[in-house]
Amino acid sequence: MTKPWPLPFWIAHRGAGKLAPENTLAAFRLGAAHGYRAFECDVRLSHDGRPFLLHDDKLNRTTSGRGPAGLLSWHELSRLDAGGWHSRAYAGEPIPSLETVAAYCRRNGFGLNLELKPNPGQDEETGRVVALAVRELWAGSERLPLLSSFKPAAVAAAQAAAPELPRGLLIDKARDSWTEEAKALGCSTVITNYALMDRAMVEAVHALGMKALVYTVNDESVARWLMANGLDGIITDTVDKFSPV
Ligand code: G3P
Ligand code: MG
Repeated sequence: MTKPWPLPFWIAHRGAGKLAPENTLAAFRLGAAHGYRAFECDVRLSHDGRPFLLHDDKLNRTTSGRGPAGLLSWHELSRLDAGGWHSRAYAGEPIPSLETVAAYCRRNGFGLNLELKPNPGQDEETGRVVALAVRELWAGSERLPLLSSFKPAAVAAAQAAAPELPRGLLIDKARDSWTEEAKALGCSTVITNYALMDRAMVEAVHALGMKALVYTVNDESVARWLMANGLDGIITDTVDKFSPV
């Protein structure tokens, strides 16, 4: 049976790669201005359990805050500047809540890949809370977000909480157990570091009835080679180089 699949081939990494502050709505808007209709972003939990976008465990690199992000409440996080570190044009850009991202993506009919990025020790909680929030925020939508993670425990918790949501297993380093893990998690896709993907891997993923995706491809010849090998999707930073239209 073919599982429902919510994403087009081209997916903008963290909104618009490095051209705008990652994981902000400003980045999504810039990605959309370059023709992108689907976005990858990183989601974790505030101290009071609200899902919001941030890549790192700590606030230091991409916000005006300091220390572990999971120690702050959503009220505190929502007051930080997540754009000024990137460039002055984006100073004052806020951290988006999952709720805001849902409003933007649903209104525009955009696809979304939510990468579960648990704070330390929160793999299960993050999978469960994000899945339940997604169920509520995308209620009635025909284009549900894909939930993916490097942490099988987070994907498993999402599966248990909201089994109707599409899931993906992220793989950065080769391991033999990926087939069994992806099957047990009922994944719709396996998303690997592009260095691990070749025709044999694409075929192995397809044999499981799943889509084969890669991150983060920014080189044209690499993209062409992967496409010739039957790949189903690319997550990229270089939204100004690859035109999805
Ligand atoms: O979801 C794919 C990709 O984003 C994984 O790596 O570190 O950029 O979140 P990272
Ligand atoms: Mg990511």
